[in-house]
Amino acid sequence: MITIATYADRYFGGVDGLWREAFSDDAPRNTAAIAIPQKQQFQPELFLVAIEEDEVIGSLMAGYDGHRGWISRVAVRQTHRRRGIARAMFEEIERRLAALDCPKVNLQVITSNAAVVPVYERLGYLVEPRISMGKTLPSGGALKTP
Ligand SMILES: CC(C)(COP(=O)(O)OP(=O)(O)OC[C@H]1O[C@@H](n2cnc3c(N)ncnc32)[C@H](O)[C@@H]1OP(=O)(O)O)[C@@H](O)C(=O)NCCC(=O)NCCS
Repeated sequence: MITIATYADRYFGGVDGLWREAFSDDAPRNTAAIAIPQKQQFQPELFLVAIEEDEVIGSLMAGYDGHRGWISRVAVRQTHRRRGIARAMFEEIERRLAALDCPKVNLQVITSNAAVVPVYERLGYLVEPRISMGKTLPSGGALKTP
């Protein structure tokens, strides 16, 4: 049976392996060792995993900034794709975001991964005319020690 759960420390290795498989070209700042401890400090209840027999087979991160919800780190193990696992994670995260009164959810797709757009369209997301911009801050997202 597949369950959608909030991330917990015991899932670290499973998420790390999933992300290495799904995001092989990831920037170092996105690796599990950096991104997960950071996420644990901000809305940790918006970091979901899909679990089958205690094995991580999917992940989805979200955040709500008070204006928009943002979704990232959407991944499902290659062996488990096209079985509705991404859909189940989206249903759960949208339920949690709606409970926070989040009015709209956004996500970004890198151009080289445009093949994934039809998946998001099936999940109700529309391609919107936007130019996406970003800036990496000098701290590089390093965790501050208290
Ligand atoms: C994108 C990804 C998370 C989808 O996960 P999944 O569990 O296979 O998706 P689901 O089975 O829940 O499918 C959701 C919907 O998309 C459709 N779909 C899934 N894969 C598809 C594909 N390759 N092409 C077209 N439609 C697809 C499904 O049919 C389903 O629609 P339906 O319920 O109306 O039939 C998975 O392919 C993945 O991990 N890809 C690599 C990582 C990645 O690119 N992540 C996105 C970063 S932006």
